[in-house]
Amino acid sequence: MSIPSLASVPLQRLDLPWLHAADVQVAVLRLDLIDPELSGNKWFKLVHHLAAAQASGASGLISLGGPHSNHLHALAAAAKRYGLGSVGLLRGHPQQTATVEDLQRFGMQLHWLGYGGYRDRHRAGFFDTWRDRYPDYYSVPEGGGGLAGALGCAPLVNHVQTRLADLGWADYDGWWLAAGTGTTLAGLVIGEAQQRRRTVHGALAGPPSHGVADAVSRLLRDASAADSGYQLIDACRGGFGRFDELLARFLLETEAISGVPLEPVYTAKAMMALRLNVQGGYFAAGTRLIFVHTGGLQGRRAADAQLEVLLR
Ligand SMILES: Cc1ncc(COP(=O)(O)O)c(C=O)c1O
Repeated sequence: MSIPSLASVPLQRLDLPWLHAADVQVAVLRLDLIDPELSGNKWFKLVHHLAAAQASGASGLISLGGPHSNHLHALAAAAKRYGLGSVGLLRGHPQQTATVEDLQRFGMQLHWLGYGGYRDRHRAGFFDTWRDRYPDYYSVPEGGGGLAGALGCAPLVNHVQTRLADLGWADYDGWWLAAGTGTTLAGLVIGEAQQRRRTVHGALAGPPSHGVADAVSRLLRDASAADSGYQLIDACRGGFGRFDELLARFLLETEAISGVPLEPVYTAKAMMALRLNVQGGYFAAGTRLIFVHTGGLQGRRAADAQLEVLLR
């Protein structure tokens, strides 16, 4: 059983003109490179769920997501790797995306819930039917969230602390990362509560109405951590998964200059929100930040066609 290791993950300086102009330094924690299948924040969000599934003697994992879900992709890959079955409850109607093809290749059993059926997931008792159908399967919350997901991300703080010499930095001032459910951000805030309490900035991939602020507060309360030490920034540019020509150009230009691959749903939006804030003078000259590359590049396959149309 191979476990993704942080040892070989680069922490690399980001060389971009708008950072130079503002004298802000950013290093990218390249979690996208940690593992070809469990890339980005996914291993960290899943690790305690996997341990709990194994401890409970579960024979498989069950979870939810859309037809391009990075979470289901990682969960199916992890289940296969650790000898577990997997069941995916999917939003919408059957369609064959690149992600869905991988889910099938990983052996995931798929159930398409439609849109209304998927909205029902918040209804009390929703999981009862699925528990009856897969009685010894362990259910992982949507997006790999929950306290277990956040606690799996907390050790990233100590890890970066041990790697600062790679950058020639004595210290840094804060974090910047994409936020979907806010689980990864909450994990970093929990990690920072034991460290120097540096601010964690979460660039929201979805609209503020998605309830991330409440979710982060809840996670911090469950972890007995103070509900402070973070900022949520609207980065969604018109909606979750939506992208426009400006974002498409920014993504390709940033990739070309920095050599860091991005995808439009999370990482490019987070980077673009960072540029806006840096150019807007949000960070003082001399500020040093860690940008967490949260992965998601498997989703780039579906996005490429849309990027092409936008740039035609
Ligand atoms: C690539 C990528 N980045 C960021 C996130 C957001 O992470 P979180 O839901 O922990 O806020 C996700 C979703 O899990 C994701 O797939």
